[in-house]
Amino acid sequence: MKNKIVPNILIERIASEGKCVGHHEEKVVFVSGVAPGDVVDVRITKGKSSFMEGEPVKFHQYSKDRIEPFCSHFGTCGGCKWQHINYDLQKSYKRQQVLDQFQRIAKVQIPEVLPTLGSEKTKYYRNKLDFTFSNKKWLTLEQIRSEEDFDRNALGFHIPKMFDKIIDVDHCYLQGGISNDVRNELRAFAKENKLSFYDIRNQEGLLRNLIIRTTSTGQTMVIVQFGESDPSSIDLVMEFLNQKFPEITSLLYVINTKGNETFHDLELVTYSGLPYIEEEMEGLKFRVGPKSFYQTNSEQAYELYKVARDFASLKGDEIVYDLYTGTGTIANFVAKQAKQVIGVEYVEAAIEDAKINSQINGIENTLFYAGDMKDILNEEFIQNHAAPDVIITDPPRAGMDEKVVQMLLRLAAPKIVYVSCNPATQARDLALLGEQYQVEKIQPVDMFPQTYHVENVVLLTLKK
Ligand SMILES: C[S@@+](CC[C@H](N)C(=O)[O-])C[C@H]1O[C@@H](n2cnc3c(N)ncnc32)[C@H](O)[C@@H]1O
Repeated sequence: MKNKIVPNILIERIASEGKCVGHHEEKVVFVSGVAPGDVVDVRITKGKSSFMEGEPVKFHQYSKDRIEPFCSHFGTCGGCKWQHINYDLQKSYKRQQVLDQFQRIAKVQIPEVLPTLGSEKTKYYRNKLDFTFSNKKWLTLEQIRSEEDFDRNALGFHIPKMFDKIIDVDHCYLQGGISNDVRNELRAFAKENKLSFYDIRNQEGLLRNLIIRTTSTGQTMVIVQFGESDPSSIDLVMEFLNQKFPEITSLLYVINTKGNETFHDLELVTYSGLPYIEEEMEGLKFRVGPKSFYQTNSEQAYELYKVARDFASLKGDEIVYDLYTGTGTIANFVAKQAKQVIGVEYVEAAIEDAKINSQINGIENTLFYAGDMKDILNEEFIQNHAAPDVIITDPPRAGMDEKVVQMLLRLAAPKIVYVSCNPATQARDLALLGEQYQVEKIQPVDMFPQTYHVENVVLLTLKK
């Protein structure tokens, strides 16, 4: 069936990862870039015995729920794939995704999935964006057909499924403040000064990556990754940013000649300002360093943490474990209502920040440990610490390692609050935890408007 056009498919509903479902001769067809209610001709990109995948090539009818996307990059950029769906429906589809995954994978009894808690800001809500420099700018079909010579240097986002093609972003609606100006001015400066943009295939070029982090308190961190150690060019770039944007409170760079863009194992240089930014929540200050995770929608993170705290319903005498604690945000957020909070996290720099975060807020009942969860949460750890009354766990998209889940079963804390950014892996973990725990509450929270991503908080209680 590959590359065949299947005509007139009615798009029936949303499925996981933002794809939609239709049928062709009783076979399920997953289609991207459509909305429930559309009727489309679909070009099949993958044909398996039980399902097919495809993309729309012609629309015969548009869904009545469609709205006009606001971004000029919509359709090419992988960032905000749901701009064509109104926000109320986005929220209900997110709830539906949680319900579907839980019914399909968790196979445990579940209570009502509560309506998705919406984000007040549906644009400019992200506090962190990561842009890539490339000498392989993505060209549209018309541009290619025109046979004109285009400047191929670009600064923007990866095109989905094409690791070496970058969309040259003109305006991004995800991050406010000076984010758009910094990116566009830096790109223009680099071109004017004939600085090289990274060539990912050959792994060479000066300018590699740009990270901009903002806070609700008005601070901005800018990190430039260089692919080559060229002190005079690096100085030229950093001094340009320093002079042009006095709003930057934390200006850093890193030289990264490795095969990938991650820099957790590299040394960052603070060019000017402080080596961190500070977020604020309920009067608490959170220091965030360049290597530390912080929830990317600060305002909505507050709503998320309130749900987690509410589900934990602490009285003041509990021992709380905060697993995958990052910079200790949840740990410090709930510390006032607990006897002691123990946070565990992989990234050592984040744990350093977590300790500082307790210190600067005068919090004395927290303990933090750095290490891989499956290694650190062992028999010795349990013997050296009090048993938890409540476990809050907030793993990355991959969910918890099975060894960690087995340890949670062994710990048998009366309550587990499971925060997740991936309901599929959360459901997989719940299937295992279901041996001893029952699901009491399920609250999806929308941290990422205009995308299919959903954060989900679950309260589990130990079966009697
Ligand atoms: C979704 S974030 C949660 C952070 C924190 N709870 C918050 O709200 O800011 C997941 C965290 O898990 C950490 N992590 C990922 N894999 C880990 C592992 N194997 N062991 C320990 N921590 C890990 C990441 O570094 C990240 O900080």
